[in-house]
Amino acid sequence: MCGIVGGVGQFAIRDYLINGLKTLDYRGYDSAGVALAEPKGIHVFRMPGRVQALDEVTPRDLDVVLGIGHTRWATHGAPTASNAHPHTSMHGEFVLVHNGVIDNFRHLKNKLESEGYVFKSETDTEVAANILEYHYLKLKNVKDAMLAMIEELQGSYALAILKKGDLKHIYFAKNRSPMVVGRGVGKNLLASDFLPMLKEGQDFAPILDHQYGYITAETIKIYNEDGSEAKPKFTRPDLKIEDIGLQGYPHYMLKEIEEAPAVVRRLIDNYFDGNEFLFDKKLITKMKSADDIIFIACGTSYHACLIGRRYMEYLGKRSEVYIASEWAYHPFVSAKKPLFVIVSQSGETADLIRCMEIINSRGAVSLTITNTKGSTLERDATYSLLLFAGVEIAVASTKAYVAQVALLSLLTGAMDGSTAVVSHLYDVIKAEHAVIAESDSLRSTAKYLSGKKDVFFLGRGTDYDVALEASLKLKEITYIHSEGLPGGELKHGPIALIEKDTPVIGFISDPLTDLPIRSNFKEVEARGATVITVVSKSLAKAGDVITVPDVKEYLSPLVKVLVAQYLAYFAALELKVNIDKPRNLAKSVTVE
Ligand code: F6R
Repeated sequence: MCGIVGGVGQFAIRDYLINGLKTLDYRGYDSAGVALAEPKGIHVFRMPGRVQALDEVTPRDLDVVLGIGHTRWATHGAPTASNAHPHTSMHGEFVLVHNGVIDNFRHLKNKLESEGYVFKSETDTEVAANILEYHYLKLKNVKDAMLAMIEELQGSYALAILKKGDLKHIYFAKNRSPMVVGRGVGKNLLASDFLPMLKEGQDFAPILDHQYGYITAETIKIYNEDGSEAKPKFTRPDLKIEDIGLQGYPHYMLKEIEEAPAVVRRLIDNYFDGNEFLFDKKLITKMKSADDIIFIACGTSYHACLIGRRYMEYLGKRSEVYIASEWAYHPFVSAKKPLFVIVSQSGETADLIRCMEIINSRGAVSLTITNTKGSTLERDATYSLLLFAGVEIAVASTKAYVAQVALLSLLTGAMDGSTAVVSHLYDVIKAEHAVIAESDSLRSTAKYLSGKKDVFFLGRGTDYDVALEASLKLKEITYIHSEGLPGGELKHGPIALIEKDTPVIGFISDPLTDLPIRSNFKEVEARGATVITVVSKSLAKAGDVITVPDVKEYLSPLVKVLVAQYLAYFAALELKVNIDKPRNLAKSVTVE
């Protein structure tokens, strides 16, 4: 979703902003803009579409001393130049960029209109700019005006603000939308995540909710809600600038699919020392004594949680899985000692942050499983575990899913007091390498799928969980309609959609459900469907289409999902669509 980047000091700010916005590209956006401050004033450039277009219209010859940039994923108003950020307040006192949604923007807009304010855009952001100016013109002091603005704004925001005539400060304020500051030599930076600052910054610290402050070339000042000065914790992520490049791959998605075996290995290395698991023992005790393990997540992470629930049930534990945006508005819990497991690649998903607020307000124990160190969800949970998957840039999640399922299996092993899962995961690594080595053979099936309007994925048990993820992957990057279904459910309705040559992709991993799922395939074949089976080797029969190496059945999603990811990737390649940045989607969904 929207991305922010800002910087002040003696360096090539214009290029830092443009390159920073390109780095934030992966979050998803539909327009972009920058504000560059130089002795003659603040210049704003905004363009619909890609950052490349912005780059072309942003002059290189300005004597820029500080600046802010933004990629916008439209919420209030179409992705036009006039709705793109930065927005300038009516009298030109402030220029700002914003991530998040101002919930009470309608009320504030009415109030400002009654004071004579006229708006040039449809955005909630312009309201924030004008509210700030309105207070500033009364109070004549930026800090007091910011406090007055914060008092009025309801909703989520990360704001980076320039003040007319001020060539020293970039002001900021944050609530429920991520913002990070970075320290450099002779310069300071801010952004919605540390990636765009990686080259110029030495270390980074997250801004917490309700904090505000400013950066200058020499200093970073952060204040808490009560006006006291905050002491941020600066750290350097274990990541090099090269790690975020394509490294010879044509797309991040392909690179990230093929990182799966390395991701699994890294998880083993981080959570197992050769003899025992390295999880916090208190966490394992809490998980074992909880009377309900409640998973909450969205999208692909939700699909990983479906498998997590099966693992908990294998241990004899009651477990539930909820979609965050649903649970947030019906947060019913009947258990007396629940433990909440929040699974989020980004650690910044707004729906989950709302759930976390509810969980914390009830004093419940929580565990966040995330790929993003220092993220909001990591900070706000009782316990947290990192996925160590490395940055995931492609919008469609691939290696993060693998990491989530693998980590959940290790956690289950720790709860069970059995380390057998580790050697089972080594088998997975081998099997994943085999799928990667044979991946070219999936191109013809993908080509066939790319010409279809509907695709169905079927499975039973964990294969059903994989079918859901396979379907999501295909639809989000190819725009082909698809559904993931439990095999047995077909004849209760969806079979009506099967017609001649409808592709049905069926997963088979479990001897127990081998026969019933194969009869489901027969049912659709009888109605003209073309069935493409994806089968574990030991269950393969004549006529099966795609065979993958055997692994323990509970870990089979870690292998089957690779096939699904490749099918989606190769089909998207056929269709010549933007694979890493599918339309309408954002990597980090920071608005509800
Ligand atoms: C799909 C995808 C999304 C995310 C979802 C949750 O490929 O990436 O469905 O899984 O938006 O995001 P996180 O895991 O960051 O909370």
